[in-house]
Amino acid sequence: MREWTREERYRVLQSPDEIRDLYDRTRASAYRQRYHVQPMTGLSSDPNGFALHRGTWHLCYQWCPWGAVHGLKYWYHVTSPDLMHWENAGIGLKPDCFYDNRGAHSGSAISHGDDLYFFYTGNHRDEDWTRTPYTCAAVLGADNKLTKRPEPLFGPRPEYSEHQRDPKVVWNPEKQRYYIFIGAQTADKRGCVLIYTSEELLSGWSFAGELKVPGYEKFGGMWECPYIVNISGKDVLIFSPQYTKLPGRGESTNHNVYLIGHMDYDTLTFTPDGDYHHLDYGFDFYAAQGAANVGDPDKAILIAWIGLPDNHYPTEEEDWEGSMSLPRELRVADGRLVQTPIPAVEALRGEPIAPDGPLPKACELRIDVPAGDFALDLFTRADGTGGLTLRYDDAARKLTVDRRGLEKRFNRQVGEVLDVPLGNGLHNIRAFIDSNSVELFFNDGEATFTTHAYPTEAERGLRVSGGAAVTLWPLAASVTDRFVY
Ligand code: FRU
Repeated sequence: MREWTREERYRVLQSPDEIRDLYDRTRASAYRQRYHVQPMTGLSSDPNGFALHRGTWHLCYQWCPWGAVHGLKYWYHVTSPDLMHWENAGIGLKPDCFYDNRGAHSGSAISHGDDLYFFYTGNHRDEDWTRTPYTCAAVLGADNKLTKRPEPLFGPRPEYSEHQRDPKVVWNPEKQRYYIFIGAQTADKRGCVLIYTSEELLSGWSFAGELKVPGYEKFGGMWECPYIVNISGKDVLIFSPQYTKLPGRGESTNHNVYLIGHMDYDTLTFTPDGDYHHLDYGFDFYAAQGAANVGDPDKAILIAWIGLPDNHYPTEEEDWEGSMSLPRELRVADGRLVQTPIPAVEALRGEPIAPDGPLPKACELRIDVPAGDFALDLFTRADGTGGLTLRYDDAARKLTVDRRGLEKRFNRQVGEVLDVPLGNGLHNIRAFIDSNSVELFFNDGEATFTTHAYPTEAERGLRVSGGAAVTLWPLAASVTDRFVY
């Protein structure tokens, strides 16, 4: 693993020529994704500024141009007509002013009238590395470029720790007001959300208070990337609690969970109907954010970072890392989220192929699972051994995913085996495989599991236990990998 000095990690990009060679090398990697958004060079992490605006989907990602390292963060901007075909649109936000001198950190977007507004965290650090987070804004211009507002909307609350970031802006029609939800940490290091409100998007913001979430007063040390949405009359609060272990999640201290309940904007209280749920049961799923302006009261569209903070992935050797998840539709049924891949992915399907040859690099598998125990192995060697293994134990109503059999092992410290509880049994699986990722949807979206996987050329086999109906479609590429600065 390469050691980076602070100077190297926080170097400011001055010209496209500084990363062209890195781009050429990155593009040649065998692990470049075919239908997932990925960093042009360097590292991508959280999705940012996700919104539908005048018929185009806009998405940015946290981007460190220099390599597979979390350093100075930019926003890199991509656009799509359909959530599947993405074009690089160039740098979205550059950390080039006092307020964001050490990074343009995560945030959201909202379309209003003719304009698309972006809200992000300016990560300011002074000489002795003391951090001051500012909530800043930018507006999309006719040239498809983001223009930053010269002054922040507001600074941090002094009674909380330095961890105050990731503004999620929402419009509340009853109140006729905007609200910004900020991921934060109290002075005694408990995760929480701070709420600001205004009648205008670019001015008038005042601190409304801390979000109360009864039962969740001590739940992790920082709540990153909060997102709130109303789906079919239910409020859904999604966030990424960190600095804590949760039952059944191995040694990982980074999670992405959701609560379903009711948000009261008068008392700033989110009352959960029940316990928290994992948004995804996989190894690598974090900082999920829903798109603004979807315009359908019964669904949300969500995208996440396939990866976790403090983890390292094999393409680090090639100086790049990261991928966005497939966008997914969220619905609410029986007090739970139901998550399904966006239908547009089906347009990438080629003619089905027999599931007995090598797995294509980009493909979709649909498996109808017979009753009883079940086994599925992806990326096995020619002799049928190894791979990413799935074992469903019907008596225990539990599926176990094990990535120890892959030749390229990584992040052993967080654990390489995880369970998915499936109280209603296992009936079907949809698996979306791309060059370095696998996304599994169980029982038409009742639970999901996302992981990176870096199979070698010798690991392309598939094994399915008897009696299952299997359909395998190759998927066409849908992201372009052009150099756009
Ligand atoms: C989540 C996060 C955010 C922050 C960003 C910085 O992964 O830590 O809280 O804004 O990444 O890249």
